[in-house]
Amino acid sequence: MAPRALVAGNWKMNGVKSSVSELKSLIDLLDNEAAPNCDVLLCPPATLIGSFVEVANGKAVNIGAQDCHVNVSGAHTGDISAAMIRDIEATHIIVGHSERRADHFETSELVRNKAEAVHKQGLAAIVCVGETEAQRKAGDTIKVVVEDQLLKSLPENALPENTIVAYEPVWAIGTGLTPTIEDVAEVHKSIRSALVERFGNEVGNGFAILYGGSVKPGNAKELMSADNVNGALVGGASLKAVDFNGIIDAYR
Ligand code: 13P
Repeated sequence: MAPRALVAGNWKMNGVKSSVSELKSLIDLLDNEAAPNCDVLLCPPATLIGSFVEVANGKAVNIGAQDCHVNVSGAHTGDISAAMIRDIEATHIIVGHSERRADHFETSELVRNKAEAVHKQGLAAIVCVGETEAQRKAGDTIKVVVEDQLLKSLPENALPENTIVAYEPVWAIGTGLTPTIEDVAEVHKSIRSALVERFGNEVGNGFAILYGGSVKPGNAKELMSADNVNGALVGGASLKAVDFNGIIDAYR
């Protein structure tokens, strides 16, 4: 089955209690405009997940988390588990974001363990991959994204129902730079081929593959039109409801 598109917002380390007003504005926009042909997800910082879930209850936006620990509970100061995230009724957890790979030295093996922890709780994992500028310049993009990251980060029993792939070139994140449509399509095609090879035709073709990195209302429609792009993972432009809704417009 063709993947259902997803437009997901990653608020990163942004947002305080009063930022719930942006979620309310987004819900108003979703209520009042044509329903998009995609799912909508917002991943605020952990401090806001609970209150966002309450506000979004029954509405057209799901709430997710940005990371989790591999264990269910225990002596891991400062961490939160997928079980805790499920307990507050979030639906998705981002794992392996390049900022966590860089800031916290997360390896693809750890990312796979996190994705498995997400699956054990019955939640969906958004598994992120992406090359640095140096890796792209060296011609290593496909090797890094597919071999070093994707194939090592995905659990053996991943399914389209519980796993979404997000391709986010590190050099495009927060920079205003984006790859050409051809470059996006090339990487997404390689990701799709690897998924089909690993999981077979039917399952491999069912995974949604998101593009992330400087997605804005002005470029979303074009980026989302590339082959094998099934949605977006949006950072900065997801912080303002009007901008995020402008990206969701690509699916109206
Ligand atoms: P920007 O949209 O701010 O470039 O961030 C992309 C990203 O990292 C989303 O996870």
